[in-house]
Amino acid sequence: MKMKEEILIAFNQALHGELQTAYDYEAMALWLRYNSLDGMAQWVQLQVEEERAHAQKMREYLEIRGAKVALSAIAQPRSEFSSALEVFEEVYKAEGRVAKVILSLRELALKHQDEGAAIFLNWYVTEQEEEEMSLQTILDKFALAGINHETKSGAAIYLLDKELGSRPNFS
Ligand SMILES: [Fe+2]
Repeated sequence: MKMKEEILIAFNQALHGELQTAYDYEAMALWLRYNSLDGMAQWVQLQVEEERAHAQKMREYLEIRGAKVALSAIAQPRSEFSSALEVFEEVYKAEGRVAKVILSLRELALKHQDEGAAIFLNWYVTEQEEEEMSLQTILDKFALAGINHETKSGAAIYLLDKELGSRPNFS
C-alpha cells in the first residue's frame, strides 16, 4: 500500500526529530567532556548513537514502503549548560518530545488505516517508554546523591559520573 502523503510528511518530521535530537545530545556530550564529566559524556554519547539508529531504522522502513525520504536542516544545538543535572533534565525533556511525535504519528497512521506503519511504530512507543524510565532513574540518582544545579564538584558527582560511564552499549 502506498503511503499517504500526510503520513509521509509526519514520518519525515519524526526522522528529522531523531537526527536533531542526536545532534543536540552531541553538543551535551561535548559540554560534559569539557567539564571533565567523562562518564556522563559517555552515557550521552551512546544516546547519540541510539537516536541515529532510530533515524536509520525509520529511513529503512520508508524506503521499504517506496516512500521518498526528505531531509531538512538541523538546527544549531545548545552548547552551554549550567550543570550536569540540567543536561540530564534536557535529555529527559527531549525524550518526552520524541515520544509525543511518535504517538501522534502512530495515531495518524491508524486514522488512515495504515496498519503496517502503526505496527512499525509500536516498537518506537515501547522504546520511548524505556527511555523515559531510564532517564527518570538517572534523575532520581542525582536527587539521591544530593546533586543539584549548584553542584560543581564533590564525591557525589564524581561517583555518579563514574557510574554513568559504565553504561553498556545500547541499553
Ligand atoms: Fe529516538
